[in-house]
Amino acid sequence: MTSAGPHTRHPNLWPPFTQLARSEPPRRVSRADGALLHLESGEPLIDAISSWWVTLHGHAHPDLAAAVHDQARTLEQVIFADFTHAPAERLAERLSAITGLQRLFFSDNGSTAVEVALKIACQWWANRGEARHQIVAFDGAYHGDTFGAMAVGERNLFSAPFEDKLFPVARVPWPATWWDDDAVEAREAEALAVLSRTLETPTAAVILEPLLQGAGGMAVVRPQFLKAVQRLVHDAGALLIADEVLTGFGRCGDWFASRRAGLQPDLMALSKGLTGGCLPMGVTMASERIFSAFIGSDPSLTLWHGHSFTANPLGCAVANASLDLLEAEPQRFLGFEARHRPHLQALSRHPRVDHCRLIGTLAAFDLAVEGTAGYLNPAGPTVKRIAMEAGVFLRPLGQVVYLLPPLCITDAQLEQCYAAIGKALDQL
Ligand SMILES: Cc1ncc(COP(=O)(O)O)c(C=O)c1O
Repeated sequence: MTSAGPHTRHPNLWPPFTQLARSEPPRRVSRADGALLHLESGEPLIDAISSWWVTLHGHAHPDLAAAVHDQARTLEQVIFADFTHAPAERLAERLSAITGLQRLFFSDNGSTAVEVALKIACQWWANRGEARHQIVAFDGAYHGDTFGAMAVGERNLFSAPFEDKLFPVARVPWPATWWDDDAVEAREAEALAVLSRTLETPTAAVILEPLLQGAGGMAVVRPQFLKAVQRLVHDAGALLIADEVLTGFGRCGDWFASRRAGLQPDLMALSKGLTGGCLPMGVTMASERIFSAFIGSDPSLTLWHGHSFTANPLGCAVANASLDLLEAEPQRFLGFEARHRPHLQALSRHPRVDHCRLIGTLAAFDLAVEGTAGYLNPAGPTVKRIAMEAGVFLRPLGQVVYLLPPLCITDAQLEQCYAAIGKALDQL
């Protein structure tokens, strides 16, 4: 076995979203607890982005560890086509109750949860014998890296090599907003006008990230815009798919962003915080109205989709344990926005800070710097490096700097995150 040092690249690994010719070697992590990652080289780092937005309660949470351990000693995996088990049933009952969507379909991650939602939406129309092919998505969207998820996401550098393989999707502007934005209403009106025209074509489904587009640049929209979107989608008879892979489980200051925005989608994709960020799992929730169109003696009505690890009992057990934690202390996510606010307010006065936005556990702003906006803006890596030296792990999206910490982060740690950002801004 090859042993790589703390700052070297392993010869057998191919890391995600990384250009090896241009990036720093990864750091080796030996363990983690709460909001901290402990590097092999000794120093702790605050995980200010919850390890790609998954770690909800903090790392190595004892309740989540116990749930995995106990379940692993009881039933670690079973084929879910001919069998069921208590952790899956309990999870389905609980998620049905809090999403208002009665049926749960399991998959493995956020991308597959989106793929399943898209497949269900398309087949729902086919099963009813109605030809509806158009899918509508929003500019700037990110829904994952599998082909269907890529197709509905913004076409960009990441999807370019596959462009000819991606199905066509109609696009609508995303009227992102920020503090002291006095032009938002005009942008919303324009987006709604485009959506309205687009929906004149018979539409199978409209997919969106409620309240917050994540990878597209932490772009926040107002609830009233989403309510208007929902009205148009309903009037057109199309299905509404909420991709809550990032925004679910308290991230946006309520159980789900849809709930905060007053939406009742037909389908919902969930992952990331589903297991508290402990194990990979995705689910697609569907209304009973959707589900019922898949039932009948004709085999072609069936949703012929499944994954080897469907409803993995370890994932279900830890998802139930994560829900227990959220239910026991909802104030942790309901009140998180208030913890960010004074820090972001102070930061907003910095000349390098533009377009502040805050929702739930997410605080973000744009760097006022030269260069084109987007993932490759070089200011992001500079901020990342300086913050890392100050003990804080950030991963800006180009010129967009954000914090999305785990719920357990202490006030002192949060202060350290903002101090590290302030230091980076002063050095830009
Ligand atoms: C809104 C949204 N949908 C889907 C995905 C894809 O999830 P995964 O990376 O688990 O495939 C992501 C990932 O960041 C996401 O933010």
